[in-house]
Amino acid sequence: MQSRVVLAVEEGKENGISSRTNQSKALPLRLLKLLVLFLALCVAFTVISIYSIKHFGIQNLVTTVNSSFQPCYDEEPTGLERYIKPPSNLIHNMSDPELLWRSSFVPRIKKYPFPRVPKIAFMFLTKGPLPLAPLWERFLKGHEGYYSIYVHSLPSFQANFPPSSVFHNRQIPSQVSEWGRMSMCDAERRLLANALLDISNERFILLSESCIPVYSFSVIYNYLMRSKYSFMGAFDDPGPYGRGRYNENMFPVVNITDWRKGSQWFEINRKLAINVVEDTTFYPKFEQYCRPACYVDEHYFPTMLTIEAGNMLANRSVTWVDWSRGGAHPATFGGSDITEEFFKRIYEGHRCLYNNRNSSVCFLFARKFAPSALEPLLHIAPKVLGF
Ligand SMILES: *[C@@H]1O[C@H](CO)[C@@H](O)[C@H](O)[C@H]1NC(C)=O
Ligand SMILES: *[C@@H]1O[C@H](CO)[C@@H](O)[C@H](O)[C@H]1NC(C)=O
Ligand SMILES: *[C@@H]1O[C@H](CO)[C@@H](O)[C@H](O)[C@H]1NC(C)=O
Ligand SMILES: *[C@@H]1O[C@H](CO)[C@@H](O)[C@H](O)[C@H]1NC(C)=O
Ligand SMILES: *[C@@H]1O[C@H](CO)[C@@H](O)[C@H](O)[C@H]1NC(C)=O
Repeated sequence: MQSRVVLAVEEGKENGISSRTNQSKALPLRLLKLLVLFLALCVAFTVISIYSIKHFGIQNLVTTVNSSFQPCYDEEPTGLERYIKPPSNLIHNMSDPELLWRSSFVPRIKKYPFPRVPKIAFMFLTKGPLPLAPLWERFLKGHEGYYSIYVHSLPSFQANFPPSSVFHNRQIPSQVSEWGRMSMCDAERRLLANALLDISNERFILLSESCIPVYSFSVIYNYLMRSKYSFMGAFDDPGPYGRGRYNENMFPVVNITDWRKGSQWFEINRKLAINVVEDTTFYPKFEQYCRPACYVDEHYFPTMLTIEAGNMLANRSVTWVDWSRGGAHPATFGGSDITEEFFKRIYEGHRCLYNNRNSSVCFLFARKFAPSALEPLLHIAPKVLGF
């Protein structure tokens, strides 16, 4: 038994030795085979590499570099952000029909699935320069995220606001508009449509270059955001400058009993802004039958919104203006007019309804102010205007 075991071990040894000798003999051959295979692979790889670099390699390399850099300049966000992030550049090449169509999109689910901070859209309808811009800059300072700015000026006007200005790059694609003509309402609709593209804009106020705010931003923000009504001036004037401008061809789309007049300088909420941009019913009637001496910018929106959503209108404007001097144009105030006494006329002695309650705060903005009023206004603002 023992010898067998020894033998077996020895056999094993021997086998082991023999196999080792076999291995040591086979090793160079295997290495050679591997080497040849490796060399063949190297040659093949080189050939393929040269071939592919020649034909696709450089292109592939560049594409890879470009695509890896793309996130840096590709501003188009994916996901929900695409719908809630306002366009960073207001310049687009949409025609008016394209813009109005796009801006009329309304979500059917009313609850926003993200924390939405409602903003005021300040829409400036101007010929060109904004001489009172420094006052607006001061008024808006520190309230970023609660407002947006849009400026419609003559297409020929080149705006030149420094990057630090709130008006920098806030010019929308504009067209020539004439007072009292439909092109004026087109400009107002263009402002509304551009502002509607930002889902966070909730209240839309139309202003001119001669308008100023007469309260601090917080007061104005709260007044507008908490209002159940939109501040569209709309009254039924039985005289020649009211119902006298009505054209019977508008019937039955517009009945004379619905005919309204009001100041062009409106403030409306998002729902009414959409009513305005989506309108295809009243627009053709006003375009065709309300021409001077019917001044369409005094009648189109007040009448149309009275018919479509009269119960949402405060029927008064929040922009103070002085007609007391008489004539076709309201008074314009220059540097020498700007005194504390003057502002008492705006703040005191007014009565109006605010959310169905009596209020003495009726005007948030005022016009018309000449460029010469800027310096006195900046001086008086901290004490009188509250900013
Ligand atoms: C890659 O970038 C270069 C310059 O950086 C550019 O000329 C080329 O058009 C880009 N290619 C692609 C596919 O974007
Ligand atoms: C806007 O530009 C695109 C190409 O960038 C063009 O196809 C389209 O017709 C343009 N639209 C208008 C209204 O000019
Ligand atoms: C139109 O106005 C007249 C009064 O001029 C009134 O009698 C009539 O009911 C109104 N029609 C409609 C449809 O509102
Ligand atoms: C504004 O006028 C319309 C009718 O033209 C009326 O329905 C609405 O209640 C008025 N608004 C207020 C706040 O009184
Ligand atoms: C507002 O004040 C007037 C008196 O100036 C009063 O007749 C009226 O009832 C008041 N309205 C409300 C809603 O308080």
